[in-house]
Amino acid sequence: MPTSTDRMTSAALIAMKQRGERIVCLTCYDAAFCRVLERAGVDVLLVGDSLGMVVQGQATTVPVTLEHMVYHSACVSRARERALLIADLPFLSYASGGRALDAAARLMGEGGAAMVKLEGGAELAGTVRRLTRFGVPVCAHLGLLPQSVHRLGGYRYQGRDAAGAARIRADALALQEAGAALLVLECVPAELAAALAAELAIPVIGIGAGNRCDGQVLVLYDILGLTPGRPPRFSKDFMAGRGNITEAVAAYAAEVRAGVFPGPEHTLA
Ligand code: KIV
Repeated sequence: MPTSTDRMTSAALIAMKQRGERIVCLTCYDAAFCRVLERAGVDVLLVGDSLGMVVQGQATTVPVTLEHMVYHSACVSRARERALLIADLPFLSYASGGRALDAAARLMGEGGAAMVKLEGGAELAGTVRRLTRFGVPVCAHLGLLPQSVHRLGGYRYQGRDAAGAARIRADALALQEAGAALLVLECVPAELAAALAAELAIPVIGIGAGNRCDGQVLVLYDILGLTPGRPPRFSKDFMAGRGNITEAVAAYAAEVRAGVFPGPEHTLA
């Protein structure tokens, strides 16, 4: 585990992958939670556009704007000391290479992000290459793509048949080749995620993708039991039976590092 003074960088995450140390990531949307997550030893803070659903009460992430992302990223950034801060490029803000550069400039310049995340496959390789060339570290996001929920028709596991799995693998290789520094894999079978984590040089962070990824990410409000209704199958309420939020987040971090979370009950084989 990194010491409390080590600053997280993309290079540090790759070194963790090479040493077989799992990367602990959580979403974070404000300064107060940033301090709690840092205290509990979280390595990567993702200012996810999930904030549209869990903070703003929207039905999907589609209405989230660049303005919202810059605001929340800046809130987290003011409190951040050690963890790597990644911010989501919101819906359609990277529909062209030029728009992606403009949006990344705001997320990094005003929002204090050290990396930006975008959802999509090989069709974004040119955009990833361009961002990277201009000094923007990029996290790719494959599998279930929440920004495409209206096209997908719902939140479903992806890559379940041979053709789907092959497409995700080809996308992952193309994005890595284009310069992506990190890959989030959401809601794919554990075998596919494990194979990709083994094949790719960049770290693979799973959510609903089994415990053989290089790290895990969850939505903070889900692990604190704050999300109304039935939680996603791949998540876990770490507040249950615990006295405070720091303890709950520390338990999540410990279970990810030990490879205990996600267990079989959170995983699609
Ligand atoms: O927006 C988000 O919180 C995300 C994670 C669920 C990976 O993209």
